[in-house]
Amino acid sequence: MFTAGSHLSSWIDSCEPIAYSKLTENRTTDVIIVGGGISGVSIAYCLCKAGKKVVLVEDGYIGSGETGRTTAHLVNALDDRYYDLASKFGEDTAKLIAESHSAAIDFVERVVGAEGIDCNFERVKGYLFLHPSDKPESLERELEAGLKAGLSVEKTTITLGGKSLEALQFNNQAQFHPLRYLKALCKAIVSMGGEIYTDTHAKDIDHTGITTNEGINVSAKHVVVATNSPVNNKYIMHLRQYPYRTYVIAARVAKKAIGQALWWDTGNFDVNADIPPYHYVRTEPLNDTHDLLIVGGEDHPTGLADAEHIPEEKRYKILEDWAREYFPQMEDIVYKWSGQVMEPMDSLAYIGHNPLDKDNVYIVTGDSGNGMTHGTIAGLLITDLITGKDNPWKDLYSPSRFKLFKAGKTFFKEFVGGFVSYLKTKPKHFDNTGLKDLKAKEGKIIEFVGEKLGAYRDEKDELHFVEVECTHLGCLVKWNNDEKSWDCPCHGSRFNHKGEVLNGPANVPLRHYSQHKDFLTNI
Ligand SMILES: Cc1cc2nc3c(=O)[nH]c(=O)nc-3n(C[C@H](O)[C@H](O)[C@H](O)COP(=O)(O)OP(=O)(O)OC[C@H]3O[C@@H](n4cnc5c(N)ncnc54)[C@H](O)[C@@H]3O)c2cc1C
Ligand code: FES
Repeated sequence: MFTAGSHLSSWIDSCEPIAYSKLTENRTTDVIIVGGGISGVSIAYCLCKAGKKVVLVEDGYIGSGETGRTTAHLVNALDDRYYDLASKFGEDTAKLIAESHSAAIDFVERVVGAEGIDCNFERVKGYLFLHPSDKPESLERELEAGLKAGLSVEKTTITLGGKSLEALQFNNQAQFHPLRYLKALCKAIVSMGGEIYTDTHAKDIDHTGITTNEGINVSAKHVVVATNSPVNNKYIMHLRQYPYRTYVIAARVAKKAIGQALWWDTGNFDVNADIPPYHYVRTEPLNDTHDLLIVGGEDHPTGLADAEHIPEEKRYKILEDWAREYFPQMEDIVYKWSGQVMEPMDSLAYIGHNPLDKDNVYIVTGDSGNGMTHGTIAGLLITDLITGKDNPWKDLYSPSRFKLFKAGKTFFKEFVGGFVSYLKTKPKHFDNTGLKDLKAKEGKIIEFVGEKLGAYRDEKDELHFVEVECTHLGCLVKWNNDEKSWDCPCHGSRFNHKGEVLNGPANVPLRHYSQHKDFLTNI
């Protein structure tokens, strides 16, 4: 199964792969879209509805990126607080932000109805409760800011794991099965004359279109890059957002033992007061006797788990301990996986014209933990930009916006702090003990004849070597033993053991050597 890591999510395991044929002939179209996650597919769907000719290329299957690894809460109760958004952007803008996410949920609901999509879409309530490291006033402030932003929110008390917790109740939130939704959207796109190609990597991208690995061209009037981290933007956007890994477990619970709702805590301010990692919880029907309880959290900057001395693979146990405290109805854990989110420096996604590029090139990125609605907003907004319609969210989400005072402390802390952590955790000496102690399905960086190489032993005892300088801007990649990937701490590029790209901004694989014979006989 093609996905951005070694673990399978419950979504990927409960939906046939959404595969189309590979692109083998040159095409000419109105719009070429690169990336088949919720952003690319929503944009393709909206453009087809607006009468545009669309070609979408995806280098895995549809949904094999972060959309297949999400938890699919559809919310206007954002993971950044409204009191924070109002202080950064003003109350009117906070209201506009809320409206855009509400419109995205309404859009999904309408499409589910209109296309008759069987994706367990449900309107649910969302409960935000206080993390022990947060101050009680923050709920009061969020209530006031949420009401001013026009949300339907009220104060309440909830009981979780026998604890009575002060909380805010957000009405009109929603949840769905993201891949079943994408599958139906793709079917609709094709029925409207849109073309979708999977297993098709866009190697070169510019304002005239794309060229695939095999040299096939798609010429287009408009080019949309919806690759989560934009692979066509080498520098600017990667100074404006930070990659985080986030972890999920899914456990069986007796059917209806826990109601259908969304739960979030306000985040651990002891770990990071600017972007406090929070827990996020929902349920999903599993079978006649059980539901799945899907719990996420324990985030850390990509490639820098060691800075907190908690390796990637140890994060699930911490997540489980937290979940069992609040949801003791949990039985056995049947899935675990992790994924990556891009945290924008001022909390809002970047959707629109690619900065310093021709006017007909667009990007979608900076999804944060709200990429389901941000991806849907991208469908609506980019369609309006391409069809020349006014859209009230154009400036709000413009990738060219840059006001340092709005990003302020967070920018310096995340950017400079991340760089310092990178330098601190960057090994000064590399392992020269050879490969004998390298176990199956493990990787490490070794030094050999003055060269640094990433080594991985697969389950068949074959060795794989990759160059360890990231193909984006040359930072040293780090082995992620949980998802079996080489992760770059600088801007979040990730590669599998063969050096193939799992996440951008890199768009070129790491050079890979398998079973280098001389190498093996020498060490
Ligand atoms: C664990 C986790 C939990 C989350 N929970 C939530 C949640 O509850 N609610 C919410 O709103 N958001 C959530 N998010 C965020 C959300 O899932 C993502 O923001 C969203 O799925 C991103 O969608 P996308 O289409 O932008 O990117 P992706 O789904 O990553 O799609 C990009 C696609 O581009 C393809 N691609 C890349 N390069 C190329 C190329 N050169 N040629 C062709 N194709 C290419 C990739 O293969 C990929 O499929 C969560 C994320 C994670 C990881
Ligand atoms: S992601 Fe930028 S250098 Fe690796």
